[in-house]
Amino acid sequence: MSFNIAIDGPAGAGKSTIAKKVAEKLNFIYVDTGAMYRTIALSLLRNKVDCKNETELSHALDQVEVTIAYEDGNQQVFLNGENVSNQIRTEEVGTMASVSSACPAVRAKLLNLQRTMAEKFDVLMDGRDIGTQILPEAQLKVYLTASTAARAGRRYQELKDKGQECSLEEIEKDMKERDYRDMHRETAPLKQAGDAVLVDSSDMTIDQVVEKIIGLVQLRREA
Ligand code: DC
Repeated sequence: MSFNIAIDGPAGAGKSTIAKKVAEKLNFIYVDTGAMYRTIALSLLRNKVDCKNETELSHALDQVEVTIAYEDGNQQVFLNGENVSNQIRTEEVGTMASVSSACPAVRAKLLNLQRTMAEKFDVLMDGRDIGTQILPEAQLKVYLTASTAARAGRRYQELKDKGQECSLEEIEKDMKERDYRDMHRETAPLKQAGDAVLVDSSDMTIDQVVEKIIGLVQLRREA
């Protein structure tokens, strides 16, 4: 039986950076489910699909195939065979992913892909509903969060390091909106699973969080 780790939490809590490092140390496959939602969002944006129109959305989703593969341990995501791993990393796609992921049809489309990965392999999967909906039987669940100020500050620094102009207030405002949408949608809202361990990374370094999670995995393995 495979060993599954679920990490959920809001945008900017450091999930993907931390998940990548933990997975590498444990020799697990890292599954970034946000990238899958972003891939569908990219397709919807490209085709100017109105996701409030159920018929239009359903027809559009029939034309979308999301697949993943690994190159040097890094997840690559494909939209109908095209590697879109870089194109999905824009704010526009992130916002559309947050909006469109509220639609049950979009979530249903990705359910099997995510569950099949977890059945076949030892995975560390991150997202918003992994512990609550996708892998309710995961051996370890972590809810990774941080204060809005800490998350916005990190995102601001990240963009500045890339040489991009940005405003801290704007980032904080967008983040609050995204959190609200992800936490208040009807289908699979972001919330801490009852049996998830809460980790607040506001005052922790990346390495401290990585060590904390590895420690939790060891405890679960010994149990
Ligand atoms: O983690 P991320 O920023 O790449 O995710 C983009 C959006 O996708 C996020 O705002 C909500 C949605 N998402 C989701 O609904 N469920 C997941 N398991 C992962 C992401």
